[in-house]
Amino acid sequence: MSEGAVGPDRGKIEIFAYGGGGPMRLRLRPMRVGDIPEVMKIEVRSFSLPWTEDAFVREIEKIPFSRPLVAEEVEGRNGRAGPAVGGSATGGPAAGGLAIVGYACWWEVKDECHITNVTVSPEARRRGVGKFLMREILKDARRRDAVRATLEARNSNGAAVSLYEGFGFSPVAMRKGYYPDNGEDALVMLMEFSPDGGGV
Ligand SMILES: CC(C)(COP(=O)(O)OP(=O)(O)OC[C@H]1O[C@@H](n2cnc3c(N)ncnc32)[C@H](O)[C@@H]1OP(=O)(O)O)[C@@H](O)C(=O)NCCC(=O)NCCS
Repeated sequence: MSEGAVGPDRGKIEIFAYGGGGPMRLRLRPMRVGDIPEVMKIEVRSFSLPWTEDAFVREIEKIPFSRPLVAEEVEGRNGRAGPAVGGSATGGPAAGGLAIVGYACWWEVKDECHITNVTVSPEARRRGVGKFLMREILKDARRRDAVRATLEARNSNGAAVSLYEGFGFSPVAMRKGYYPDNGEDALVMLMEFSPDGGGV
């Protein structure tokens, strides 16, 4: 476990986590352009309005305050390196040679951590990957002196809202008709880091 070392400017770092139905060793590292084909396979199966390849390129190359990350499965329940659940979770290994099981992106906007994407491969869900991504983002943001974290979620996305509530986020506003595909409202959620360093 490497404290203080999550982010594109720190190179490749191994972090381990356990979640879901058994021990699952995950590694978090900065997303690279070479990961985008694998990321897109997950993205298009996860959202009715998926980000485009160009959007991910922009996050990696053009937005200096963006911190896109991927979680790879280093070792599964059976002790072998590889994808989370029988067969490849995403159709093949990513740039790092291991299966990407999830990814996330956040923006460091002054003292605010704004989380723009948290996604787990459908085959790897409910095994703690989402928690791993959230925990590591929030730890990194706290180290960088963030005082609050914000995000938006579809009102109907119970899984995501429950994940975020588990990290202390609460709804603070509603953006009416925010999503153009179905006019659904967006919940704006906020979490304030506790000054005593508790929580993440
Ligand atoms: C939301 C998402 C990231 C959760 O990832 P995950 O790896 O399955 O989540 P975890 O296994 O770490 O579960 C963490 C918590 O999330 C909540 N959760 C996850 N899936 C859930 C589901 N299907 N129903 C209800 N709660 C759920 C639970 O609170 C869970 O905690 P618990 O296991 O103690 O009950 C995943 O479902 C996903 O990628 N969905 C599609 C993309 C998306 O909607 N992203 C969020 C955009 S705002």
